[in-house]
Amino acid sequence: MQVISVQSAQCNYDIHVGDALLQSVGKVIAQKIPKARVAVLVVDQSIAQTWAQEVVASLQDAGLSVVQHIVKASEENKSMAEVEKLWRCLLAARVQRSDVLCAMGGGIVGDMAAFAASTYMRGIATVMIPTTLLAMVDAAIGGKTAVNLPMPSDAPNTNLAKNMAGTICAPAWVASDVRTLSTLPAREFRCGLAECVKHALIADASMLAWIETHSEGLRAMDPARLGELVYRSASVKAAIVSRDEHEQGERAHLNLGHTFAHAIESLLHDQVHHGEAVSIGLVAMAAASQAAGWWPEADKFQLPKRLADLGLPVKLPCAVDAGQLKSAMKLDKKGQSGVVRLVLLKGVGHPGVLDAASEQVINAGLDAIGA
Ligand code: GLY
Repeated sequence: MQVISVQSAQCNYDIHVGDALLQSVGKVIAQKIPKARVAVLVVDQSIAQTWAQEVVASLQDAGLSVVQHIVKASEENKSMAEVEKLWRCLLAARVQRSDVLCAMGGGIVGDMAAFAASTYMRGIATVMIPTTLLAMVDAAIGGKTAVNLPMPSDAPNTNLAKNMAGTICAPAWVASDVRTLSTLPAREFRCGLAECVKHALIADASMLAWIETHSEGLRAMDPARLGELVYRSASVKAAIVSRDEHEQGERAHLNLGHTFAHAIESLLHDQVHHGEAVSIGLVAMAAASQAAGWWPEADKFQLPKRLADLGLPVKLPCAVDAGQLKSAMKLDKKGQSGVVRLVLLKGVGHPGVLDAASEQVINAGLDAIGA
């Protein structure tokens, strides 16, 4: 097992990465949250009868009273309605401030459940048990919790305003058991890989080279390789959020490629998953970085080829109007109204924020992805 420590204003916490962690969740909770008597396990329905049962047994063995709350993971269910259902479940189970909520699944379940935990009785302890690659390397780290809101009716598109309400609340512990990746659909695994590439581009070129060298072992779900991938990638995020938990500066770098990606997702949410949008967004980011004069050698780095070699998409899957994408980019909550803020690279390992991207820079990004 490998351990990554995260610093937070509320409490420092550990991320454990290994391949036999689910069976010891109860024991670790008994050490870290000794006053807990009830454990509410909020779990993605796709793993409720499988991986979750190991956690239930472990919590019961540790003497905790266990309540399971099953959630269907969808962006529509990352909602205040689901949060209220969960709050009512906590109340019905007489959950006290000293008890614990375990959030088990991908980013949707984790964000929604952790939001409910951070607000129920003004906050109870949360243990994150991510079971997707994307959640292990990104969503479960850094304490961001969220639900989506419906877009206002006069907004240019009718989809959800993603992650519009939320909190930043440190978990008590993150347990990433890489065995759970063996039952993850290949498409979801690749989505997580896109976030790993993003972390590599933020951190250093050697990490991307490592992913490329070991891509076969990763596809074959070799637990040692998966553990190393999660450890390396989660370490990049952990270091950044430890330095800038509340996104006053450096944490914004984690949005590399994401302004393009969020716009793509908002228009093509039926066709493109988040990690796929991130991959396409990274291609746009590299072209925009070159057009801005930040990364003159970007084309020589051949990011589109490298992403495609990992099985990731590098172009929009269908024709999309560039004007609509630009309108969606202007709505991104990371920017100021009407101004497009982009995280770009000055080279691998050297991210920065361009506060008001010009039309020429945005167009270069959109051209590169076929908009
Ligand atoms: N996923 C970006 C962040 O946690 O800040």
